[in-house]
Amino acid sequence: MNYIDPSKIIGASLSRVDGPKKVSGQAMYTSDHNFPGLLYAVPVSSSIASGTITKLDLSAAEKMPGVRAILHADNIGKLYRVTGEQPKMDEKRPPFADKEVRYYGQYVAAVIADTFEQATAAADVVKVTYSLKPLNVSEALEPADWKTESERGNVEQAFDSAPVKIDETYVTPTETHSAIELHATVAAYENGAFTLYETSQAVVNHQQVAMAILGEPKENVRVISRFLGSGFGSKLWPWPHCFIAAAAAKQLGKPVKLVLSRKMNFEAAGHRPVTQQRMRLAANQDGKLVSLSHDYLNHTSILDSYKENCGEATPFLYSTANLRVRSGQVHRNVGTPTSMRGPGAVPGLFALESAMDELAIKLDMDPVALRLKNETAIDESTGLPFSSRHMAECITTGAQKFGWDKRTAQIGSMQRDGKILGWGMAACTWIALRMPTEVTVELKADGTARAVCATQDIGTGTYTVVAQIVSAETGIPVDKIDVVLGDTNLPPGPFSGGSTVTASVIPAILQAVREAKKATIALAARTPNSPLHGRTPDELIFSEGAVKIASATTGSSGSSTSLPFGRVIEMAGSASVSGKGKGEGGFNDPLKKKFSLHSFGAHFVEVSWQPELARLRVERVVTVIDGGTVINAKTATNQIEGAVVMGVGMALFEHTHYDPRNGAPINSNFADYVMATHADAPQMDVTFLDYPDTNFNEIGARGLGEIGLAGIAAAITNATYHATGTRVRKLPAMIEDLIGA
Ligand code: MOS
Repeated sequence: MNYIDPSKIIGASLSRVDGPKKVSGQAMYTSDHNFPGLLYAVPVSSSIASGTITKLDLSAAEKMPGVRAILHADNIGKLYRVTGEQPKMDEKRPPFADKEVRYYGQYVAAVIADTFEQATAAADVVKVTYSLKPLNVSEALEPADWKTESERGNVEQAFDSAPVKIDETYVTPTETHSAIELHATVAAYENGAFTLYETSQAVVNHQQVAMAILGEPKENVRVISRFLGSGFGSKLWPWPHCFIAAAAAKQLGKPVKLVLSRKMNFEAAGHRPVTQQRMRLAANQDGKLVSLSHDYLNHTSILDSYKENCGEATPFLYSTANLRVRSGQVHRNVGTPTSMRGPGAVPGLFALESAMDELAIKLDMDPVALRLKNETAIDESTGLPFSSRHMAECITTGAQKFGWDKRTAQIGSMQRDGKILGWGMAACTWIALRMPTEVTVELKADGTARAVCATQDIGTGTYTVVAQIVSAETGIPVDKIDVVLGDTNLPPGPFSGGSTVTASVIPAILQAVREAKKATIALAARTPNSPLHGRTPDELIFSEGAVKIASATTGSSGSSTSLPFGRVIEMAGSASVSGKGKGEGGFNDPLKKKFSLHSFGAHFVEVSWQPELARLRVERVVTVIDGGTVINAKTATNQIEGAVVMGVGMALFEHTHYDPRNGAPINSNFADYVMATHADAPQMDVTFLDYPDTNFNEIGARGLGEIGLAGIAAAITNATYHATGTRVRKLPAMIEDLIGA
């Protein structure tokens, strides 16, 4: 069923190897872990966004049935603060570190009880008295101190003297990652050591943060995250609740489970912050960009300085002699923001690709032609070549698949079945990054293989992709390859973020497999009863899961010249042979000095508009992605389709509203926080150009996932303008904006 010839495994459309476990309920997610004597922790969340706790009245709560302890600032014990960039934690203040409240939903205490219901009931009767301070959760961001991030030429001068200009501000709201699986920790403390079951996209970083906060050596902290119900970035770095559970487990000597409510997920587990971006674009009459200025602000919390990196794509996406990107952060009484799918580039490209559309209209030029006109040969911000860039082909292929040549530019000029159609497009791009990775691969006497790494699978298909790479390099079918991830006892692996895992694991897996193959060959040559005994290792090869004589041509190899690897190991009296591999990389990857590393793509969108009903629907999306070699056509397509649906939500629905009176994220539930559902999903057509980026790694894969969300919101609002004549510069597009048209 799931069998694919190993020689055709790279790029195959393979179902997830962990799929059966997930659909049959056998996959153990974090909150599925139960242990004898397990206790439940439920945090008490602040009901104000700014002030000081003056009294914590626990008298009623302490008398409630089943209550074992109530932790708060005076009794949680010593927790250390994480400082600096590494290890990474966005909200750096440890739980209950002081009595100041800086956002609504900040944990002020936690009840630990025998059951979840008892803990919840007791948490409800903890009485907290506050002295209030002024709060500010305003979405309108005041100018901050500008920090220049990228600059060339003279943007002001070029802008002033250019004939065609755009000067507009684009706003994106707070969006909350809404993974189906709630954030959770199950913490166990035994014999002086912690085992932390976490909803973590980065077990190794989580371990390092836990060591720092708990003041423990590495051998005393193990972090496990086998399966994740997604995360979208919210589970990349630890949040304070993790250490409430850990501290409680240690104090009480019992395992403690803490599962956040959906409301808490909105309040204290990250979000994409509000962004406000002023774009100034100037061009000559022929459409050549002469000046591009991008000034952006994002909100962050009171104590931390999360930057939404909106200028990520701006410096290299188009050719222009004059360019400047500046950023600033504005503090608000909100929980600390964090990375959310395509952090920075996603809101950044909403602004840039909206502005490009506005510029095209002002130039009376086709938006496709404008982008092609400004295609760049190199990364003009660094002067470096791209490792691999096929942006123009993404655009032309997308235009052709979409039927763009039938587009008439006039607003509202296209109709079908009595509905007005709008056609819009946008370019997209996302970083290519690889992180240091270690992998161990074992070849076993029973004919199976095992690959292990302390990375994790957030649902994107990492288990499957690792198995595919091992299969391709050994000839062992994937159903005989066991992949173990999500445990810090394994060799250290990368975080599941930034669409980086595939490219990070490839070199490590290849190296590990080659070492294991070499060891198997050596074994075949020196094992006395092996038919290959006496051959020098140079005369032997490992191919199609067997050790063979190198000179034997295909077809002529008899049984005496080909021995399955399992048999070799068995004959040697071993259980297995193994190999270790290491991949390089990091935020300061030396490869970044040679190449500009990015993926590219383009979205083409059709919306339908029924003004009599004020009904806007995204009907059809054609996406073309240049992400290097595709390892798995199915999981890759799933990633882009999921991102496109998320993009419908970003463009039309998602908006976390803060109540100006008390600072509460007021729509902190799935009834009021509107997301795109199946019914909102357009007809999707995803194409991968599949050009191997061998400057990046041997197989040529870069990474997929986040790029699908980049640019899509702009493509949708560009199409909306084409249908309605209303330019949406503030997301999400609201019916009331559109009926003004
Ligand atoms: Mo993604 S925001 O890198 O999980």
